Amino acid sequence: MARRTRRAAGLGLPCLGLPWLGLALLPWAVPPAAAPPGGCPSACYCVATPELVQCRYESLDEPPRELPTSVHNLSISGSNLSVLHRAAFAPLPLPDLRLLRLRHDNIQTIEDMALQGLPALRTLDLSHNPLRSVAAGAFSGVPLLRTLQLNQALLAAPLEEQLALALRNLSLHRLELAGNGLRALPVSLLPTGLEELDLRNNSLQRLTSTELLSLESPGLRGLRVSLGANPLQCDCALRPLLAWLRSSASRVPDARSLQCSKPPSLRGTAVLRLRPEGLGCTADDGGEAGQLETASYVFFGIVLALIGIVFLMVLYLNRRGIKRWLHNLREACRDQMEGYHYRYEQDADPRRASAVGTPGL
Ligand SMILES: *[C@@H]1O[C@H](CO)[C@@H](O)[C@H](O)[C@H]1NC(C)=O
Ligand SMILES: *[C@@H]1O[C@H](CO)[C@@H](O)[C@H](O)[C@H]1NC(C)=O
Ligand SMILES: *[C@@H]1O[C@H](CO)[C@@H](O)[C@H](O)[C@H]1NC(C)=O
Ligand SMILES: *[C@@H]1O[C@H](CO)[C@@H](O)[C@H](O)[C@H]1NC(C)=O
Repeated sequence: MARRTRRAAGLGLPCLGLPWLGLALLPWAVPPAAAPPGGCPSACYCVATPELVQCRYESLDEPPRELPTSVHNLSISGSNLSVLHRAAFAPLPLPDLRLLRLRHDNIQTIEDMALQGLPALRTLDLSHNPLRSVAAGAFSGVPLLRTLQLNQALLAAPLEEQLALALRNLSLHRLELAGNGLRALPVSLLPTGLEELDLRNNSLQRLTSTELLSLESPGLRGLRVSLGANPLQCDCALRPLLAWLRSSASRVPDARSLQCSKPPSLRGTAVLRLRPEGLGCTADDGGEAGQLETASYVFFGIVLALIGIVFLMVLYLNRRGIKRWLHNLREACRDQMEGYHYRYEQDADPRRASAVGTPGL
């Protein structure tokens, strides 16, 4: 019954979220008008029911303390939380909290066990925060976490190594990393069993053969990757990705919308319409293979020239020997000719023809 009255009281109304009541967060200043314990926190809205609490653009300096224990979804945005300490949201455990949305909250540090006391948490959204430090045990104690959203959250500092440790033991199904300026597939951040990865709006120019190979590893074979809004460079280095897109189209849900961003002549062209042969591999395009080809031709030419020079030098150094050899050859020829001459004369005499064989033998 009590539950019903709370629900009625919270129906679509801000729970006394006036600025001067922000003080109510401090334990020593709880005014009589504050929500009853387990009801709606004073700086937040309970939308329709206390199961869905939204704290929007209130200047919270730390997570609200008096959350209803029945809360399912909690959303705090536009605050200045800066550090999420151990058990930041659960002085008392919140056994039903499934979704925690913390966007635009200036969160910079997440300490070990920050989510302790939220055993049912499945979705955590930390997008639009300037993360600088994430402890290895930041996400410990939330065994059911399946969706982690980190869109535009990795721009403040290089965080990949720390995050790799923090994500190591999770069984995530969905990881969102859109808008983080990533230049390569963040292989170390992909827990085995991951099903969806959002890499839209990053700085990927291609996926290399090595990266594509890691997507074929047993733990990631079921992974689908969204790649839209990346500055794909349609030169010969894109060939491996193009071949992979053709053979595994279902693994990139937005494959049809992928467009070239470079070179200027192909800007805006749908990647799937390209033919591998059409991707230039000449030196002009700066294609790696093109440069390699030119280099090997030059090398081949130099080797030929060297062989020629060595040959000429051998001839030159040996010019006396060659002269002698030519002389000997001429002598040998002359002897031979004389031999023929002699035989011819012998053959011309019919009487001796049967008695004398060939003199040359
Ligand atoms: C909580 O959020 C999820 C996902 O946004 C939504 O499907 C669900 O209806 C919400 N729950 C409540 C009680 O509003
Ligand atoms: C946010 O909080 C930190 C420390 O709690 C403080 O130094 C900083 O000035 C605050 N920023 C804003 C915009 O209030
Ligand atoms: C990951 O799990 C292993 C064993 O299950 C444990 O020893 C380790 O402390 C865990 N690491 C983190 C960061 O929770
Ligand atoms: C893409 O990401 C950048 C930051 O990397 C952000 O400034 C921009 O608003 C994002 N664009 C869209 C459409 O989300």
